[in-house]
Amino acid sequence: MPTTQDDLITALDLPSIRSQFPSFAETVNGHPAAYLDGPGGTQVPQRVIDAITDYLKHANANTCGAYLTSRRTNEVIASGRAAMADFFGCDSDEIVFGFNMTSLTYAMSRAIGRELGPGDEIVVTLLDHDANFSPWQALEEKGVTIQRVAFRAADCTLDMDDLARKINPRTKVIAVGYASNAVGTINPVNEVVRRAHEVGALAYIDAVHYAPHGPIDVRALDCDFLVCSSYKFFGPHMGVLYGKREHLKRLHPYKVRANTNESPNRWEWGTLNHEGIAGITACVDYIADLGRHVNPSVSSRRAAILAAYEEIVRYERGLCERLLQGLRTMPGVKVYGITDPMRFSERCPTIALRASGHTPLELATKLGDRGFFTWDGNYYALNVTEQLDVEKDGGFLRIGLFHYNTVEEVDRLLAALREILAA
Ligand SMILES: Cc1ncc(COP(=O)(O)O)c(C=O)c1O
Repeated sequence: MPTTQDDLITALDLPSIRSQFPSFAETVNGHPAAYLDGPGGTQVPQRVIDAITDYLKHANANTCGAYLTSRRTNEVIASGRAAMADFFGCDSDEIVFGFNMTSLTYAMSRAIGRELGPGDEIVVTLLDHDANFSPWQALEEKGVTIQRVAFRAADCTLDMDDLARKINPRTKVIAVGYASNAVGTINPVNEVVRRAHEVGALAYIDAVHYAPHGPIDVRALDCDFLVCSSYKFFGPHMGVLYGKREHLKRLHPYKVRANTNESPNRWEWGTLNHEGIAGITACVDYIADLGRHVNPSVSSRRAAILAAYEEIVRYERGLCERLLQGLRTMPGVKVYGITDPMRFSERCPTIALRASGHTPLELATKLGDRGFFTWDGNYYALNVTEQLDVEKDGGFLRIGLFHYNTVEEVDRLLAALREILAA
């Protein structure tokens, strides 16, 4: 279905949502701040800030001590695991907390790589963020062959024929992004997982960019690993990994002796970011409460999360179409990736563009001065900018829309962009 004006009317309570984010009160040169930089990290609601502060006030301790605040800390970690299990649709013992997605992926790729050597192959894609590329490529030092899957320049979608060519019985891992943080494409991850399993390979999914935009169901997806960063879905700067229980138990992490052999603790080295984990529970509850507002009859937190995403997807598609409609009218502006509203189920509302005669940095700076926070560059999706031959010219201007953005912000952005391009 193409997007219509009705899609801009949402069951989400935007005024109530926006009142929960203290950072939205920011101004720049008298202009209200418009946060369109979410693909690099979203804003956090007050309850996340409160949860972090409360932890530090009332539970600040290390784990497993024989006293009150330490017991509270254990409870905070257990609650965080339960929240993320609801977020991913798995069990608590399949949740691993870490510093960020990149470090979790290095840790997991090192452990998987222990079992690999010459003759083994790993499939990665050129559409991925470097954090789901370089850790796997590093295993070339063990003699592993890296197969790189291309994407189609015309619409920035994965070349599934190339994927099919690159998979064979020697393939041991397929690492793929759920969605591109540069051009917004949502990859056919179900199909990729199916093909990985056909040849007995592990499927490792980078869901960092997708997580704030759509529901994740690791059981339905049947992936072996899936990793996210909570600062991309309204939480603190941390990484969270789902691993199938059997893999988390069987694989051998590099770890200190004092770390227990119990899973998931064997994957969590040293002291965790306890206050961050408290914040993660709060950001999952924030999303669940959006769902309870949309559908008050939901019975569980998981159901509430799914209800929230149903409406988030619908509303964000409306915003995305309005932005693209406006951009289409601007001479010299080229949008990379899927632009056909009939295909919006294949993209997140993350728009990469270039405007002739202006560098992305210049546009981001001029927009920034008017209160619009956007990104310029490659956002570590280095293969994407190289393949599209824009790396040497400053990459793209990236505009990231989220459920907390408004139609009015999109319209103001379009007006500002028109003014900048006309000057
Ligand atoms: C798609 C994607 N994957 C991975 C990462 C890296 O995440 P982290 O900063 O948590 O290591 C990012 C960060 O921008 C991302 O957008």
